[in-house]
Amino acid sequence: MSLDALKREAAARAVALVQPGMRLGLGTGSTAKHFVDLLAERVRDGLSVVGVPTSEATRAQAESLGVPLTTLEETPELDLTVDGADEVDERLRLIKGGGGAHLREKIVATASRRMIVIADETKRVATLGRFPLPLEVVTFGLGATRLAIENAVAASGCSGALTMRKRPDGASYLTDSGNLILDAALGRIPDPEDLACRLNAIPGLVEHGLFIDLADAAILATASGIQVIGD
Ligand code: A5P
Repeated sequence: MSLDALKREAAARAVALVQPGMRLGLGTGSTAKHFVDLLAERVRDGLSVVGVPTSEATRAQAESLGVPLTTLEETPELDLTVDGADEVDERLRLIKGGGGAHLREKIVATASRRMIVIADETKRVATLGRFPLPLEVVTFGLGATRLAIENAVAASGCSGALTMRKRPDGASYLTDSGNLILDAALGRIPDPEDLACRLNAIPGLVEHGLFIDLADAAILATASGIQVIGD
């Protein structure tokens, strides 16, 4: 089975958990895209839900498929967020932001009573860090922010290069909120809670891609069936 087919299987399992009347957080990325597709099929069959998209791409997809949308201004509390991940460990700690959407994704997940991760089995890791950690930063003070990040990384027992994310045409990548992204190639993150805490204290760093104590369950599609971490 292809990776894309596995992603769709994980998304299908999550769509089955959606109940009428739910207020949903709609994730970003190729796996979450399947979820929105399948959710739209249920909406066409009469399911009544509202969703808060975590990116402009997801907003456009949901709008085009007729999934009713709301905002966190109108609806500040959500029942369930379903989103992909770049890495998930056995304690449901995540790396997110490969698609540059982790700021909005973290705001939406934090506003939700439950967050369910959907992914193919390749995202499951023993130790976070193989995937470069996305760090959304503001332009002002970039040199100082970069130094503070390097110091935080070293103090947390990690090492690795920071790379400015670029678009395919070579220009700086900009997030939906107009910020830059530094990707930190750390290899392994021995203490994700410690690193997250140190990164949280850096003013020019808007948000990092470590999601800790946010996911309640992960639905992982493997060639031999679905595996679930959590409840
Ligand atoms: C978006 O910024 C990310 O957090 C995605 O949720 C993550 O990169 C997973 O994307 P895929 O489902 O495309 O692997």
